[in-house]
Amino acid sequence: MKRSQLLALVLCLGLCRIQACQDKAEAASVSKDWWETAQFYQIYPRSFMDSDGDGIGDLNGITSKLEYLKDIGVTAAWLSPIFTSPMADFGYDISDFFDIQPEYGTLDDFRALIKKANELDLKIILDFVPNHSSDENVWFQKSVKREKGYEDFYVWHDGKRNAETGEREPPSNWLQAFRGSAWEWNEERQQYYLHQFAVKQPDLNYRNPAVVEQMKRVLRYWLNEGVAGFRCDAVPVIFEIEPDENGQYLDEELSGLTDDKDNRNYLKSELIENRPENIEMVYQWRQVMDDYERIHGGYTRVLLIETYAPPDYTMQFYGNRTVKGAHLPFNFNLITELANNSVSASSIKTAVYNWLSNLPAGRTSNWVIGNHDQRRAASRYGVANTDAMNMLVMVLPGASVTYQGEELGMTDGVISWEDTVDPAACNSNKDIFEQFTRDPSRTPFQWTDGTNAGFSTGAKTWLPLADDYKTANVQTESSDSRSHLKVYKAMVALRKESKTLQYGSIKYAALSDDVFVVKRFLAGSPSIVYVGNIGSSTATVDLSTFDVSLPESLTLKVSNVASTKTENSNLKITGLSLAAGEALVLNTS
Ligand code: GLC
Ligand code: MG
Repeated sequence: MKRSQLLALVLCLGLCRIQACQDKAEAASVSKDWWETAQFYQIYPRSFMDSDGDGIGDLNGITSKLEYLKDIGVTAAWLSPIFTSPMADFGYDISDFFDIQPEYGTLDDFRALIKKANELDLKIILDFVPNHSSDENVWFQKSVKREKGYEDFYVWHDGKRNAETGEREPPSNWLQAFRGSAWEWNEERQQYYLHQFAVKQPDLNYRNPAVVEQMKRVLRYWLNEGVAGFRCDAVPVIFEIEPDENGQYLDEELSGLTDDKDNRNYLKSELIENRPENIEMVYQWRQVMDDYERIHGGYTRVLLIETYAPPDYTMQFYGNRTVKGAHLPFNFNLITELANNSVSASSIKTAVYNWLSNLPAGRTSNWVIGNHDQRRAASRYGVANTDAMNMLVMVLPGASVTYQGEELGMTDGVISWEDTVDPAACNSNKDIFEQFTRDPSRTPFQWTDGTNAGFSTGAKTWLPLADDYKTANVQTESSDSRSHLKVYKAMVALRKESKTLQYGSIKYAALSDDVFVVKRFLAGSPSIVYVGNIGSSTATVDLSTFDVSLPESLTLKVSNVASTKTENSNLKITGLSLAAGEALVLNTS
């Protein structure tokens, strides 16, 4: 061996040893913060629990059910908006960011909710809606009147003159999310204002530093009330492109995706979505969180970001080497990849791969399968796959998010055109509204099989109940010997006690169109294997082809309602037969 080779070998051995030490040191010293392995639970306040019989959920209703959240293992609940609102978009149109919607209660009710949550060691996260306010917000009314300090609080523009007719036209062809132009003429101010959502949701002007500061006040105000952080709404649309040198806004190009000229997808929406300034804004909010924590101490206050965007954009929200960003930009891959009849193991694999392979080093993942803007998970994936999906999100690394009712396998309500209230649907017509409506996933939460599913004592609920309330409800599922709810609870409990699920590495594969498998492993701890059959027929799998290092048999820890296998029994990994919808979590101990 030449001297140089010897030197290289010595160096290499030395380095390898250092590496090994580092790994050990890391495993021993890194302990996860509360949010990194959290079970987040989204409450849609209007539909969770009604305490006063008006058919509308409220804060006292939520407070009365916090023990339920504790019981099913939730770490933190995020509430969709509870602030004063004319309810044009059911609370996402805020007329007073510093007060509570009277239908939902008072500030004192909110304080009582926080107090009870603290007693139960549950965290409460609020919805922060930065992009827009209600047109009934005093800021907008002052802006309409060009009152000092508010002139540029919103995005105003004179519009264009049509070269042929001389008529006034909107400044650009931009479309709002709920159909039609994103510009609305204001008679009083004699200008157009921008609204990326409904006409009653004017966009705040983030190029105005006073707006940026005002919205940071909103964050600080609620932090002072004891919240554990925020889910930040519609972040990709906060900034739009600036006007050109002539003061004009460029038009969006046609997407070619649809002929429906009112549908936002008709245009590419590249000028009004996913701008770099939005990411920079989130970094500033993170600073607000960290400053608060530095001054007031306590636990980490978190930012969760709503973003349906390509991975290279989404991942930037995490921050980078020099600046901190959001704790968790939501991962909607399991919703978007499995949309439109593509519920398959290979779609799950793509969803998982696209997230994990793009995740910056050292960041925490999260998994979302539903929310108040999507059809319910059980309806999209199939009721039979409820457990397989709930179990999957709890086996994958990082935090998981449950939308209310997913733990029960609640399905979409059937809502007629007459009963439809969602602006996304009401702005369309009775032939096409079902493509747009979000009402089906917003029907009342199902507590019992009795009147109004135990949600309200009122004569009428704000949306009708879903048809499945007699079976998919807390009362029935708590007393049944096997139920979606029991599987959910067993999984949350397993994740709480399993170091492997909290800290372990991951390996995964689609064994067929129907069967997805995940292995989590950690030195010194038992490995955990998830295997789920989301197809409609029995499948027989051989897990040794997935991972040769697995022992011949594994112990069954959690099985779902479709399974007849006995928990704690040993199962051979070859010739393992799975019924349609059967999902198992096994370990190597
Ligand atoms: C987000 C919310 C949605 C709302 C919109 C406007 O996408 O999740 O419900 O309509 O923002 O605030
Ligand atoms: Mg009520």
